[in-house]
Amino acid sequence: MEVNGQMKEIVLKKFEEVFGDVQGVKVFFAPGRVNLIGEHTDYNGGHVFPCALTIGTYAAARVREDNMLRFYSMNFESLGVIESSIEDLKPMEEAGWTNYPKGVMWAFGEKGFPVPKGMDILLNGNIPNGSGLSSSASVEVVTGAILRDFFGFDVSNQDLALIGQYSENKFNGVNCGIMDQFAIAMGKKDHAIFLDTADLSYTYAPVKLEGAKIVIACSNKKRGLGDSKYNERRSECETALSELQQVVDIKSLGELTEEEFEKYKAAIKDEVRVRRAKHAVYENQRTLKAVAALKENDIALFGQLMNASHVSLRDDYEVTGIELDTLVEEAWKVEGVIGSRMTGAGFGGCTVSIVKEDAIDCFVKQVGEAYQAKIGYGADFYVVEIGGGPAVL
Ligand code: GLA
Repeated sequence: MEVNGQMKEIVLKKFEEVFGDVQGVKVFFAPGRVNLIGEHTDYNGGHVFPCALTIGTYAAARVREDNMLRFYSMNFESLGVIESSIEDLKPMEEAGWTNYPKGVMWAFGEKGFPVPKGMDILLNGNIPNGSGLSSSASVEVVTGAILRDFFGFDVSNQDLALIGQYSENKFNGVNCGIMDQFAIAMGKKDHAIFLDTADLSYTYAPVKLEGAKIVIACSNKKRGLGDSKYNERRSECETALSELQQVVDIKSLGELTEEEFEKYKAAIKDEVRVRRAKHAVYENQRTLKAVAALKENDIALFGQLMNASHVSLRDDYEVTGIELDTLVEEAWKVEGVIGSRMTGAGFGGCTVSIVKEDAIDCFVKQVGEAYQAKIGYGADFYVVEIGGGPAVL
């Protein structure tokens, strides 16, 4: 609560400075997320296992009497107030980060909930930008929470996730799956979400790491999902699926076991696509095994599966790069590291490691120094806690 209280004060103070007064203002929060395992499976009908974090996006917002939209981000202060209107909800390059909240406003309209009035919205996120901890999905979900609260829209948290994803796909042009928005909108303290992306059924699994913590290492290699190879990977998987469908009756790669994949893979006419599809199938199966291991309190096996996930993302899916590989391969050398892998879309961003508490200092030092020496700039490390979903503060 301490951090929430402080952040609430900070955003209210800034809101007053930027927009003149705080009349009618409410403060909201939506978390960031980290995915423990199940990477690039969510658009392949597979399983994912992410959790919401206690860090996220804070927003101070109010309704206006006119149709104007005024946005301000404490993370991009030099951009100042960015203005727009609810009559002009179109993606525009010069709108920068405001394309995310505007996209959500547009998506609410598409779903039958037109935004009736303008708003003043100020954001302050403590998720490192572009880190791969889903700062954009966090902005989408917090915007949804704001609209629901002020305009009384009858939507569930799961709807907030779906609307966020819809806006990202259709307004912002990134063909992302549902994982990020779902993890954020449905977050539960100290639990990871075991989500089947084929039908959105899910269960919460307690994450008890007994003497270990989740450590995020941020590569500081910036990436934008839109200009990354994300959409390309997705279409490679779609093509591989359609090839497999010539020989086996499936709706998604997530329906196949490893054995079935090996039996049918010759139907895929290109070696690269075989590896992409292999990753999707094996990663899904690894996720099932990892969740079972966690249930059995077998953290060591969970860690091994995380490591195998990274190898597959590196060699078969090819979404890591020297920065993420260095962070992970150096992490594997540290005693007390239970598992380490890249997390999120890849191509930059961050890694997630499970590290014994008494090894964390050594981990940060050893991995940090090796990274600096090899890459030429530093990484940042965060020991994170699993938090809840969106909230009005
Ligand atoms: C990004 C996307 C998610 C998911 C991951 C990879 O975070 O937004 O939908 O595909 O990459 O697992």
